[in-house]
Amino acid sequence: MQSIKWDPKLISKYNINGPRYTSYPTALALSSNFDPAQIQAAIKQSPNELSLYLHIPFCHKLCYYCGCNKLVTRHQHKADTYLDALAQEMALYAPMLQSKRINQLHLGGGTPTFLTEVQLSRLMALLHDNFTIDTDAEISIEIDPRSCSDDKLRHLRTLGFNRVSFGVQDLDEKVQIAINRVQDTDLIRHQVQLSRELGFSSINLDLIYGLPFQQPASFAETVDEIIRLNPDRISLFSYAHLPERFAAQRKIAESSLPDAPSKLALMQLAINRFVAAGYQFIGMDHFARPDDALAKAQQAGKLQRNFQGYTTAGQDALIGLGVSSISQVSGVLWQNCKDLPDYYAAINAAVNTGQLPVERGFSLNADDKLRAALISQLICHFELDVEAFSQKWRINGFWQYFSEALERLTPFMEDGLVEVYAGRIKVTGSGRLWVRSICACFDGYLTQGQQRYSKVV
Ligand SMILES: C[S@@+](CC[C@H](N)C(=O)[O-])C[C@H]1O[C@@H](n2cnc3c(N)ncnc32)[C@H](O)[C@@H]1O
Ligand code: SF4
Repeated sequence: MQSIKWDPKLISKYNINGPRYTSYPTALALSSNFDPAQIQAAIKQSPNELSLYLHIPFCHKLCYYCGCNKLVTRHQHKADTYLDALAQEMALYAPMLQSKRINQLHLGGGTPTFLTEVQLSRLMALLHDNFTIDTDAEISIEIDPRSCSDDKLRHLRTLGFNRVSFGVQDLDEKVQIAINRVQDTDLIRHQVQLSRELGFSSINLDLIYGLPFQQPASFAETVDEIIRLNPDRISLFSYAHLPERFAAQRKIAESSLPDAPSKLALMQLAINRFVAAGYQFIGMDHFARPDDALAKAQQAGKLQRNFQGYTTAGQDALIGLGVSSISQVSGVLWQNCKDLPDYYAAINAAVNTGQLPVERGFSLNADDKLRAALISQLICHFELDVEAFSQKWRINGFWQYFSEALERLTPFMEDGLVEVYAGRIKVTGSGRLWVRSICACFDGYLTQGQQRYSKVV
């Protein structure tokens, strides 16, 4: 892999507000002017194997930085009500998915380990009752270490979970206090160790850079400790600070946040250390051991991207269940109601209407599909063979079609971030940091609602 180069001068030029391209177009394109009948048709055309995402929105305590769709509560019974609704939603999908198999199942949140062991058992039983889950399916769950006892972790394993992802964020106490998420390093160490003993085949740890009071020296300690824990994958998220959207972030003083060059330095430090420790830099936010499935998929040119980030499958074959979840199947995107009361109301109404609790959606046209494929290729593999792509998508005159994109790409080329030669578009080592901005050159919708996105780094 070409090494990653750093040039702080480029920050002011390319650090735009831009999408993370977990889909193209992004969720902002979804509209209420959408006919849900398209969902059934899309599922009919889909491959036999699908990925399933389930959103569990509850958390015990609020982390101030959090941008996820969650509800902080101490009332455990709220999860029972939620599971009742999920059961109804699954029943609506079950007839459509009768001939399909689920080869990836992911529980995200919020905090799925908010659920008790009894609730987790019920949830898995519901899934098995309604869908055919492959015996060798990847079954993964996001875990807040503070909400997962040893017994719960063992229980997850017996329920068939084989992958775990722990939220770590930062191990420094001053940072942890500022983000209202104090968690002991020993606890994380213990849970990683226990996960290994229990035979979970993949362990991921989440970190965030750009948090309040993060300093190179202390962040380096966090990074080194993560390396010692030796997870299979690491997610290194850029802190998305959008206080106008997420009220809790207003509790984080702007003055405590690292500025853009300091933030870039934190990222640089982490990338350098992870790569030196043998991790493959998958691209935006992600690292994996070279023998991990994600790294192998990238090596084989088969990496994909969906709403969960980089993935080995499910790019256009993902069903999302639960409040706010987004699905993408056969070129159709749809999102469930984003607020819990609306989701419950839609589920209750479904008893009479038989309608899914879907709030908005979008059907990709031919141009969208083309741009989606191109952006996915660049963000996953940093390189595109223009000739092969043109043949596959039947376009005559690639650069004529993308003349506007070429214009936007020109400064990136001049700064050595992108090379266009010998019929290839190549994101260079220095360009990898700016791949979001580079992909944005090919985005046909970007001028709409740009301020709603976070900064690229
Ligand atoms: C749903 S949480 C993971 C599970 C569990 N709730 C936890 O926090 O441990 C998903 C991850 O998103 C990341 N995240 C949340 N808010 C973020 C933000 N504003 N900017 C960047 N990353 C964020 C955190 O790394 C977090 O671990
Ligand atoms: S980071 Fe995780 S635990 Fe914290 S509020 Fe967000 S979803 Fe909940």
